[in-house]
Amino acid sequence: MTQRKGIILAGGTGTRLYPITIGVSKQLLPIYDKPMIYYPLTTLMLSGIREIAIITTPVDQDQFRRTLGDGSQWGISLDYITQPTPDGLAQAYILAEGFLGGAPSAMVLGDNIFFGHGLPILLQEADRAADGGTVFGYHVADPERYGVVDFDASGQVRAIVEKPAMPPSNYAVTGLYFLDETASRRARDVTPSARGELEIASLLEMYLADGALSVKQMGRGYAWLDTGTHASLLDAGNFVRTLEQRQGLQSGSPDEIAFSNGWISADDLIKRANQFGKNSYGTYLKRLISET
Ligand code: TTP
Repeated sequence: MTQRKGIILAGGTGTRLYPITIGVSKQLLPIYDKPMIYYPLTTLMLSGIREIAIITTPVDQDQFRRTLGDGSQWGISLDYITQPTPDGLAQAYILAEGFLGGAPSAMVLGDNIFFGHGLPILLQEADRAADGGTVFGYHVADPERYGVVDFDASGQVRAIVEKPAMPPSNYAVTGLYFLDETASRRARDVTPSARGELEIASLLEMYLADGALSVKQMGRGYAWLDTGTHASLLDAGNFVRTLEQRQGLQSGSPDEIAFSNGWISADDLIKRANQFGKNSYGTYLKRLISET
């Protein structure tokens, strides 16, 4: 199988976070001690993916480039693609068609945070599935805000319904999609919904209709946080702070993951640590080196 490539969808308007996001992209806001986009980036890196495209609004692209560079500091490559207007999640596959070049993909939403024991294994299993698609169902209290899984009596997935007024289950589809190389072609056949977007649910429905979609459960041992409202943004920051202070370990550090994956050397990591001087992130990276 061709090596899977990654996409981080980091455009959008962020209207629910106004007035903060009038002047800055949501995905660059801090989640405790790191920019939000570090978290979805590390989700892809934990899946073993090293070629990643970041989709942004035209106006925000420079700031993303300044924040993340070309990825070489982490032994990965980062490409930047602009989405002129936020026309829906499925549009990403059309915009990224050239970047993907016929490869399968893993797309993560730039405002989604995943955490949990065994996450890399779950991700790597999804990466290994050669055909079709894999998405994750997660039990939430407020399914009407998401794409929701409709199960039949035998527990088979019957449909995925976008933001239903009457949710057929409490299982929301998380913002992480492992799709095969047919995604871009299929996305071209998606017609805009009533709200004018190319819906990811419509694309997933196409896979489902072909018996090519696997919905894996992401159990309660995992945290799936979305950060699109003022309260959920603060909750996510507090969650990361609680974990990091208790454990003395970072969550969502691309430097640590690049080093532990063997994608950068100890010397590379020291260089990075020195850039951060005496701040806690730099100190943490230095400690990683001394502990190895
Ligand atoms: P949403 O939360 O649906 O939208 P948004 O981020 O624009 O925020 P709001 O609803 O407050 O206006 O988007 C989910 C993620 O997908 C988020 O990281 C932004 C991204 N996105 C795009 O990059 N392009 C798009 O066309 C859409 C709809 C979302």
